Amino acid sequence: MSAATHLLFLSCAWACLAASFPVTQNHMSDSARRRAVERISKAAGILILAAGQGKRMRSSLPKVLHPVCGQPILFHILRRVKEAAPKASIAIVVGHGREKVEEAVRAEAEFSDLSIEFVFQPEQLGTGHAARCAMEHPWGASLVKAGGAILVLPGDLPLVPRNLVEQMTAPLGRTDAIRLMTCELPDPTGYGRVVRRGKAGAVLRIVEERDASAREKAIREVAVSIYSFQAVFLKHATERLSNRNAQKEYYLTDLISAASRGKRKIDVLSWPSAEDLRGVNDPWELAQATRILNERNVKNWALKGVRFTDPWSVQLDVEVEIGEGAEIHRGVVLSGKTRVGPNVIVGPGCVLKNVEADEGAHIKTGTVAEASRIGKGAQVGPYAHLRPESEVGPGAKIGNFVELKKSRIGANTSIAHLSYLGDAEVGRDVNIGCGFVTCNFDGRVIDGQRKHRTVIGDGVFLGSDCQTVAPVTVGAGAYVASGSTITEDVEPGALAIARSRQVNKPGYAAKLKSRKS
Ligand code: UD1
Ligand code: CA
Repeated sequence: MSAATHLLFLSCAWACLAASFPVTQNHMSDSARRRAVERISKAAGILILAAGQGKRMRSSLPKVLHPVCGQPILFHILRRVKEAAPKASIAIVVGHGREKVEEAVRAEAEFSDLSIEFVFQPEQLGTGHAARCAMEHPWGASLVKAGGAILVLPGDLPLVPRNLVEQMTAPLGRTDAIRLMTCELPDPTGYGRVVRRGKAGAVLRIVEERDASAREKAIREVAVSIYSFQAVFLKHATERLSNRNAQKEYYLTDLISAASRGKRKIDVLSWPSAEDLRGVNDPWELAQATRILNERNVKNWALKGVRFTDPWSVQLDVEVEIGEGAEIHRGVVLSGKTRVGPNVIVGPGCVLKNVEADEGAHIKTGTVAEASRIGKGAQVGPYAHLRPESEVGPGAKIGNFVELKKSRIGANTSIAHLSYLGDAEVGRDVNIGCGFVTCNFDGRVIDGQRKHRTVIGDGVFLGSDCQTVAPVTVGAGAYVASGSTITEDVEPGALAIARSRQVNKPGYAAKLKSRKS
């Protein structure tokens, strides 16, 4: 959406936030009400800083795209923004790996109804410079023109909660006000420290770790790169920033001393949970943020009636859904959009990605499945492998060391041991003995087609150690003798035997023995 069309949404921008702060409008005079309405109808901008390289991540992937519980860090922030301020005019400052960041956000359908502008910061000269780029962009200019306020969020805080965004986007009230979020940390190392007049007096400035004196380093109240500014202040103050500091960067934090010198009102919102504000700067912090979010997810599902035998060993992506009464054992990994139905049992060490398991299914130890569906009451595993586009019908049984690829297995069919089925369509009530293989590839690619299909009708009985050489069809109700290699279609109800006839030679064993000696 263009910057100009943002303006169409501006009037409703704060209005949607009005519910988050209690205004007792019934007792207001008309002029006070008008002023309040004017305030809440001012434009809401949200600026996300995501241009940094994230050097400490030691990765070619831009920092904000590193996943936490299956979603890039930036997506977590955008989701909370969408929940708290769906009509806000959002700008994301991009630089390092900008194409990857823009492409990832654009490709996510969930964000298609948000108003998002990408602002390019060609060189990463600091957080203050990033904000300046945004204010020089038409996005910033339109907010200045509309007299709006801007919430600044760093792109590296995956655990920011929705109510933080709500509280930070509540109207600033006075036109000269600034809202600064701070937090008390037991170990403030690496963060900008909040310097006050006296111990708990007015905020004077923020000093970065690398510019701080020993005394300042002892301060445990830190800044977390979350602020709300009037757009006009942000524009003018970022133009005046200098980079005379240890890192030769333009610090956004210096806006606080500018505001203090300018006698502006600095509202401090002190956030009680340091966990919510955990930043990701290196792979260890990424791991810690992942652990916190994972535990929150697991707890959420546990309170909805899911039983975890060892919650701390289970890994859940944020989009996973689990039904009541399900049992999730130790070391299970559920990722992507996996949906586990009610009363499903997922045994130890199973790894399921984008899998749907219907009610009462039992997925046994060590099973690996991707982009597949497991029907109601079906059993899979132990140690089964469902590769993409596989479907196991209700009540079917897929046993140990069975691999399925792009195969549909009908209801109540049993494939209990050591088999491979690729590109197969298997009917219902079929029994497949041990060691069956669909030979689906003949080493050639014809008209782009690499693999051939195998069709096995309802009620077929396949003895152990059979192969079917595709393309081939075994008709409904047919029998295939053990050890057969089926190369031609079998008509329904027939018995197929495709193995060489046995020859017994009486007394021959002794002859062989004597030959050996
Ligand atoms: C920043 C704050 C520090 C605060 C900490 C909390 C400054 C100078 N320091 O430090 O006070 O305690 O966050 O998390 O603001 N970015 C850009 N362009 C740039 C530089 C950074 O877009 O030129 C983005 C990064 O992608 C990142 C965010 O700004 O998402 C913060 O940058 P980062 O380098 O992580 O700042 P910190 O050193 O953590
Ligand atoms: Ca940071």
